[in-house]
Amino acid sequence: MIYLDNSATTLIKPKEIIKAVNDSLLYYSANPGRSGHKASVKTALKIEEVREVIARHFNVSSAQNIVFTTNCTHALNIAILGSAKQGGHIVCTENEHNSVLRPLEHLKNLGIIDYTIAYQSTPTGITVEDIKKCINENTYMIICNHISNVNGSRANIKNIGKFCQENGYIFLVDGAQSCGHEKIDMQELGIDYLAVAGHKGFYAPQSIGVLVMNDKYRPEPILFGGTGTNSLELVQPKTYPERLESGTISTPLILGLGAGVKFVEENFNDINNKLDDLTTYLNYELTKMGVTSYTHPENSYGVVSFNIDDMHSNEVADILNEKYDICVRSGYHCAPIKHKALGTLEQGTVRVSISYFNNFSEIQRLIYAIRHIKKEHEKDFSRK
Ligand code: ALA
Repeated sequence: MIYLDNSATTLIKPKEIIKAVNDSLLYYSANPGRSGHKASVKTALKIEEVREVIARHFNVSSAQNIVFTTNCTHALNIAILGSAKQGGHIVCTENEHNSVLRPLEHLKNLGIIDYTIAYQSTPTGITVEDIKKCINENTYMIICNHISNVNGSRANIKNIGKFCQENGYIFLVDGAQSCGHEKIDMQELGIDYLAVAGHKGFYAPQSIGVLVMNDKYRPEPILFGGTGTNSLELVQPKTYPERLESGTISTPLILGLGAGVKFVEENFNDINNKLDDLTTYLNYELTKMGVTSYTHPENSYGVVSFNIDDMHSNEVADILNEKYDICVRSGYHCAPIKHKALGTLEQGTVRVSISYFNNFSEIQRLIYAIRHIKKEHEKDFSRK
């Protein structure tokens, strides 16, 4: 089997991550931060080390700026719902996933906010000029997908962050697809909140995400409950990150994520040079054989979306799966506005998403399969 659905989740995990999860189950299974005994403290210290690794990785001032969540969607929901402002206005982009669009639509339907979607005026990604066109006097937050999970479009985060800082807008970046593939220095880039997926670019197990906060803003909680602190009080503690982390957090997943961040830091250039090479090669071959690629050649971050003539993307993905043993994702990738912008609301797209653990010969086999599917389709068409 050739697995090319790494934007949905990475299949192959580095051995360091498996070991960290395993060690957690063997040696760090007490509840961190709920009791004062040795076993609990030992686990809590290990969790704290991971907060420090992540805080350093994204260059925020303190380990207390790291909030563990169940996934990237959860992190985005905290930042969006926890910052909601009655009568306010938010700008997001055509590249947003439903994890941003649905909370926004929910707030809009409750009559709390309004929002505007910025569309790309350049083929490679959103620019600050695209955002500026959508601002109004009630705007308080800009939400920007960093790298599109549909076609790898990349937003110019640096200029948008500067614009947000100069104008006092909260800047939330959806890093689901970019974390692990881009160096993200939150202070330098002016990012207030970054939502992180553990199981994609950091190769961690599923169901661990992070909300990384810079120093200026703090969202209100959207989940309430036990934090192990201020237990006699009926209100959430005021201190972060526990104000946002009700309920027992997952030590095995957090330690797995910590190992994943270290793995990426140690192999950053190798990982990303490989993704660049394989993406560029695949995209070039697709275009050469007359397949429609929706990925700009400059956006070589491991995500390539395409269609073969008028074939539905689900049909192509099914053939790849059944006849060639190749796993890709088809359809809409939970990003409806992006498909409107690409003109693929009918067909969806076939999405190939590559990881560090894929290789050149797998991409060659995929290209061979696509060429055959296209030829067969053309034969069928000429027989009709
Ligand atoms: N958001 C994930 C994807 O792009 C699941 O497939």
